Amino acid sequence: MAGSKNAALAIMAASLLTPEPLHLRNVPRILDTALMAEIVQAVGGRSKHDGEGRITLQATQVTDRVPAQMAQRMRASIVLLGPLLARTGEGRLTRPGGDQIGARRVEQHLRGFRAMGAQVEETEHEIIARSQGRLRGARIVLDLPTVTGTESLVMAATLAEGRTEIFNAAREPHVQDLCRLLNKMGADVRGAGTDQIVIYGGRRLRGTDHQIVPDYLEAGTYAIAAAAAGGDVTIEECPNEDLQQALLKLEEVGVQLEQRNRTLRVRRDPGRTLQAVDMGTWVHPGFPTDLQAQYMALMTQAQGSCVISEYIFENRFQHATELNRMGASIEINGRDALVTGPRQLQGATVGVSDIRSGAALVIAALCAHGVSAIEQAWHLDRGYEDLVEKFVALGADLERRPAAVPAGRRVEPA
Ligand code: EPZ
Repeated sequence: MAGSKNAALAIMAASLLTPEPLHLRNVPRILDTALMAEIVQAVGGRSKHDGEGRITLQATQVTDRVPAQMAQRMRASIVLLGPLLARTGEGRLTRPGGDQIGARRVEQHLRGFRAMGAQVEETEHEIIARSQGRLRGARIVLDLPTVTGTESLVMAATLAEGRTEIFNAAREPHVQDLCRLLNKMGADVRGAGTDQIVIYGGRRLRGTDHQIVPDYLEAGTYAIAAAAAGGDVTIEECPNEDLQQALLKLEEVGVQLEQRNRTLRVRRDPGRTLQAVDMGTWVHPGFPTDLQAQYMALMTQAQGSCVISEYIFENRFQHATELNRMGASIEINGRDALVTGPRQLQGATVGVSDIRSGAALVIAALCAHGVSAIEQAWHLDRGYEDLVEKFVALGADLERRPAAVPAGRRVEPA
C-alpha cells in the first residue's frame, strides 16, 4: 500500500514547526500531497521531491497566511492553522468551504486556539488567529474528536509554553503517525491513540526523517473491491491493526480473510453468497467513515437488506444516487441508507463527488455488466496513488480517458 494520505497531509504541515529540513518517505503520489507541498512553498518553505514518494520540506522562514485559492482547493488546509500560529504568532486561512460530504465545521479548532491564548477572528471569508508572544499550554476539552482539529492543536501545543492536555482527542492512525513524527522532531507528545493527549511544549523542534505509515483506507478500499467483484487478492504492506473493525465486518459479511503480519489476503469465491450486514460509521477504532461508500457498493452484491448509518458526516450518501442509476436498490432516510440486494448492476455513466464516493463507483463498475464511464475521476487522483494501474494489475478491465481537470486542479502528483 502507498503511504497514508491523511497522515502525509498533517505531517507535511508539521514541516512549518521548524526551520530545519524534514525528510519524508512513502509520501503518496497524489494530488492532495502535491497541493500541500505547493502550500508549504507558498508560505515560505522549500519542497524537493524525487517522484518516488520522497519529499524534503524546509521552512526556514514562514509567512502567516495560506493563499486563498489554495486553501479553498483542499479542506485539509485547515490543519495548517496550528503550525502557522505557533511558528509566526499569526495564522490566516481562507475559511475552508464545506464540501459534498458536509458543512465541515471548525469551531472546535478555534476554541482550542483561544484556550491557548490566541485571539481568533472569523470573517465571512477568513479565519485569523493571532497570539501576543508564545501560545501557552492549556486544558482543551473537545466536544467531539475532530481529526484535523486534534492534529492542528497538538502541533500548536508543541511550540506553546508549558503543558497542554487535549481531552476527547481523535485516535485515528494518521493522528498517531503525526505524533510519532513530532516526537522524532524533539517534541514531547504523550497519549497518541487514546482520547487524552498531553503535550509538554516550549522546545525548539528539529528536522528529522520519517516514513509515512501505510494507508489503511487504501487497503480497505481494495479489500472491499475484491470482496465485491470476487477474486483472490493479497494486499502487501497492509496495516491490518488499523483496519480491525472493517475486517471484522467483512468476515461477518462472509468474505474470507487471512491476516499475516504485513499482508492481508482477501478471497471471495465466485458463487459464494455474501450476507447483508448493518453497519454504522464511527470514530477510530470504529468502522471508518472513509470506507462507508465502498461498503455500500459491496452491500448491493449481498443477500438481504441492511441499514448503513453515517454518524460522522451529515451528507455522505451522494454515491447512493449513482449506484441506484446502475441498478442498485438503496433508500436514504436522513443518516440511514437501506440497501437491498443482491442486484445485478448495469454499466452507466456516473459522476464522482468526492474521493471515497469515486472509489465506491469504481467498485460498482467492476461488478456491473457492461461498460461504465466514471466522470470527474480526478477526485480519485486526490486520494489514491496509481489507482488504474493497481486495479489493472488485479485483472480489472479499467482504462483512463483523458478528461479536462478543472482549472487550478492540475497539479502533478509529488
Ligand atoms: C478528517 O477530516 C479526514 N481528512 C477525512 O478524510 C475524514 O473523513 C474525517 O477526518 C473523519 O475521519 C483528513 O484527515 C485530511 P473531522 P476532518 O474534523 O478533520 C464535525 C478523506 O476522504 N466537526 O473529524 O475535516 C465535522 O463537521 C477525508 O480522506 C464539527 O462539528 O474531519 C464532521 O461532521 C474525507 N466541528 C465531523 O465533525 C469541528 O470543529 C468529523 O469532522 C470539527 C469537526
